[in-house]
Amino acid sequence: MEASLGIIGAGAMAEALLAGVLSCGLLYPENVYVINRKNDERLKFLKETYGVNVTRQYSEVFSCCDNIIIAVKPKDMADLIGKIREFVSEKHIIISVAAGISTSFIESRLEKKIRVVRAMPNTSCQVKASATAIAQGAYSDEHSISVARELFSSVGKVVIVDEKALDAVTGLSGSGPAYVYLMLEALTEAGISAGLAKEISEQLAVQTVFGAAKMALESGEAPVHLRRKVTSPGGTTMAGIKTLQQMGFTASIVEAVRNAAERSRQLLMENCK
Ligand SMILES: NC(=O)c1ccc[n+]([C@@H]2O[C@H](COP(=O)([O-])OP(=O)(O)OC[C@H]3O[C@@H](n4cnc5c(N)ncnc54)[C@H](OP(=O)(O)O)[C@@H]3O)[C@@H](O)[C@H]2O)c1
Repeated sequence: MEASLGIIGAGAMAEALLAGVLSCGLLYPENVYVINRKNDERLKFLKETYGVNVTRQYSEVFSCCDNIIIAVKPKDMADLIGKIREFVSEKHIIISVAAGISTSFIESRLEKKIRVVRAMPNTSCQVKASATAIAQGAYSDEHSISVARELFSSVGKVVIVDEKALDAVTGLSGSGPAYVYLMLEALTEAGISAGLAKEISEQLAVQTVFGAAKMALESGEAPVHLRRKVTSPGGTTMAGIKTLQQMGFTASIVEAVRNAAERSRQLLMENCK
């Protein structure tokens, strides 16, 4: 990527993206500018750790960078847009990761026809294994989508969706890591109650979920085929799967994603009033 990158917000998501784009050589540290609101220690840490530029001047970020990632909390978005409005111009691409903040909310408050892209990564950004969905705003173009795709590819997989699909994305991959952690807790507990030591049970549970996901990714086979292949009639896996289905495993996951997506819709309405 030739252009410079500005990152507004210096929290967990900002650092994950920063680490991703630098480690894959997409950008040089001297071409990255990070700005936050008041935490001096945090900026000092990012400068020392990654060698990036840090500043408290929005004017510097917008004059030095064409591509800007906004990684502040949703509640801080309206205030931030008010502060950056005067510095934003048609040359900029604004990429927001703020959950539940629509592109139209940003576009209307910028009061200009600016290319805005919305991205929904997940916490696995921190280990470069995010599942990120990207949606374009009213004025974004192929270039802005390809810039966002390139940036988020440095921290995992990227899919492009219509913005209206982002609630479903939030319910599935945004909240998904927590569902899997819950499953890991349950598997660990199950192992303990079946007689395993906690540490052994946890290691086996984590590696099993990792291995199954790796298998699904690398074999390219649909999960349903992989499951059938390892489920022999009358065998041990069949006994376990039967119990899970009798107890509503699939139905509860469908309902969990549906409810999380609904909550995302509600948050959008609350945040974008
Ligand atoms: N964490 C995730 O895995 C994840 C996943 C998907 C989406 N997101 C989205 O990513 C965004 C950031 O989340 P986070 O977990 O990284 O939050 P965070 O750790 O709380 O960081 C927020 C950052 O925003 C800065 N900030 C707030 N107002 C600002 C302003 N007016 N100008 C400049 N900087 C400002 C804060 O600076 P100070 O500390 O100086 O106040 C802080 O550095 C959220 O909108 C969230 O919805 C996060």
